[in-house]
Amino acid sequence: MRVFVTGSTGFIGSALVPELINAGHQVLGLARSDAGAQSLIAAGAEVHRGNLEDLESLRSGAAKSDGVIHTAFDHDFSKFVANCEKDRRAIGALGSALIGSDRPLLITSGTGMGAAAPGQPATEDHFDPKHPNPRAASEIAGAAELARGVNVVVLRLSQIHNTFKQGLITPAIDVARAKGVSAYIGDGLNRWPAAHVLDTARLYRLALEKRAAGARYNAVAEEGVTVREIAEVIGRGLNVPVASISAEQAASHFGWLAPFAGWDLPASSALTQKRLGWHPTGPGLIADLEQMRYF
Ligand SMILES: NC(=O)c1ccc[n+]([C@@H]2O[C@H](COP(=O)([O-])OP(=O)(O)OC[C@H]3O[C@@H](n4cnc5c(N)ncnc54)[C@H](OP(=O)(O)O)[C@@H]3O)[C@@H](O)[C@H]2O)c1
Repeated sequence: MRVFVTGSTGFIGSALVPELINAGHQVLGLARSDAGAQSLIAAGAEVHRGNLEDLESLRSGAAKSDGVIHTAFDHDFSKFVANCEKDRRAIGALGSALIGSDRPLLITSGTGMGAAAPGQPATEDHFDPKHPNPRAASEIAGAAELARGVNVVVLRLSQIHNTFKQGLITPAIDVARAKGVSAYIGDGLNRWPAAHVLDTARLYRLALEKRAAGARYNAVAEEGVTVREIAEVIGRGLNVPVASISAEQAASHFGWLAPFAGWDLPASSALTQKRLGWHPTGPGLIADLEQMRYF
């Protein structure tokens, strides 16, 4: 397939492009800068110039493809709500080029969207469009495209990691470095799910090739690693003390990361593994953090 990949220069996109090419697909990667275009050419992909603000560039990229994987997202968390709305518009634009065909549109969300009850692992089949996280906009947009006859598939990501980057843990390391303490809230037994970036790239490819309209998949290798365990490995890596803080102290300590730091977000991938024959092989989150080159 000729696959239009947005976010092809990002953390996940950079693992996804070789995964697709090695499996025999062609990649048309979205690039918004010369440096991004050069890195795509070096990876063996074709370049499509454009950006998330230029909806016509998204439509024309999708129109030239046999399928789309949308991983671009503006991660300026000071404008998170606006950026989730931007993702909604981007998904609409990509979908408009694919209506009435079986060409798949894979969109990206988070595993938290599948949480039905506190403490229970989030699952693929649950979605509450009233979820308080503004990122629900991505899946709501996906559902609207599905209803318009687009073959939409949702990839829900956990904390995706290698030895360089680890999802929201990377900014948590910056906080610990700046504050001189690696903190967790309360007993720190709230959990974050995780998956290695290469397992995640393989999952996107398998989901693309399966092209099951309306499917949702969880990129989860570990159902839940406690935030306390994560804080402890950060403390060792930075050689700073590890401490519990109260929920009231969280905002001043963690800043924009505070709401995420307190969430208990276990997630399952049992259905994903069954439906796609996807079996993550790791390494695990703590192993990658122990090998981190950025401490
Ligand atoms: N990493 C995780 O643990 C994790 C967890 C849950 C969900 N996700 C989701 O997974 C997706 C990929 O995440 P990631 O970790 O790969 O993110 P990332 O490393 O920050 O990469 C973001 C990508 O989006 C592109 N981008 C950002 N703003 C853009 C704009 N205005 N126009 C065009 N391109 C733009 C970037 O291009 P440049 O290279 O030009 O900057 C880059 O290719 C996102 O939807 C993210 O929210 C990730």
